Amino acid sequence: MQADPPADRPALTIAKFDKALHDRSAFSCGFAPIDHFLKSSLSDQTKSGMVAAWIATAGEDPAVLGFYTLGALAVRSDFGPKTWQRSRVLDVPVIYIRAVAIRQDMQGRGLGTALVIDAMRRCLGIAEQMGAAAIVLDVLEDDHFDRRWRFYEDLGFRPLGDPMNPTRVFIPTSDVRATLGG
Ligand SMILES: CC(C)(COP(=O)(O)OP(=O)(O)OC[C@H]1O[C@@H](n2cnc3c(N)ncnc32)[C@H](O)[C@@H]1OP(=O)(O)O)[C@@H](O)C(=O)NCCC(=O)NCCS
Repeated sequence: MQADPPADRPALTIAKFDKALHDRSAFSCGFAPIDHFLKSSLSDQTKSGMVAAWIATAGEDPAVLGFYTLGALAVRSDFGPKTWQRSRVLDVPVIYIRAVAIRQDMQGRGLGTALVIDAMRRCLGIAEQMGAAAIVLDVLEDDHFDRRWRFYEDLGFRPLGDPMNPTRVFIPTSDVRATLGG
């Protein structure tokens, strides 16, 4: 995907992770486990099909500015909206955003929002090919939890109501379709 840049900035590209193309060496989002995941686990996890990763870069610069990963997940139908409980499906297929992160010096400029919206559009495409009733993610808990929670709330995510995963949030695919079209 190419996003329209402000006049003075190079175009933002969001492309599938390519170990040979994307320079992860200087990436830091301020949350060490995510940095570690990007640098040490992502290649193996993409190779083994655990996640697909999407990377934001600017212009010709290969440095990673931000990224997100998607994977398949099932959540119990006794959480979430009433329609799930009525469906008689025990395990509801969803798409799981395992990580979203923006390089620290780029945070607060709308890039995180752009990446999550890109993820939502991609999930709509996936949901055309296989059942995926929602997008789900776990909001990380640390000192920035309240801001982070608001960030996802503003994007339409709401608590799943899973007592085992109290910071797990979801947005139904139908809501994403209604908002973004497709
Ligand atoms: C959370 C994060 C992805 C948001 O991306 P971003 O580009 O900074 O966000 P945007 O500019 O699109 O939107 C700004 C909103 O993001 C949230 N946000 C900004 N910086 C944040 C930070 N360091 N930690 C948590 N949330 C943050 C706030 O809700 C903010 O709105 P506010 O300024 O009104 O409080 C980014 O800050 C980040 O990578 N944080 C560290 C890693 C992380 O927390 N990942 C999410 C895992 S669930």
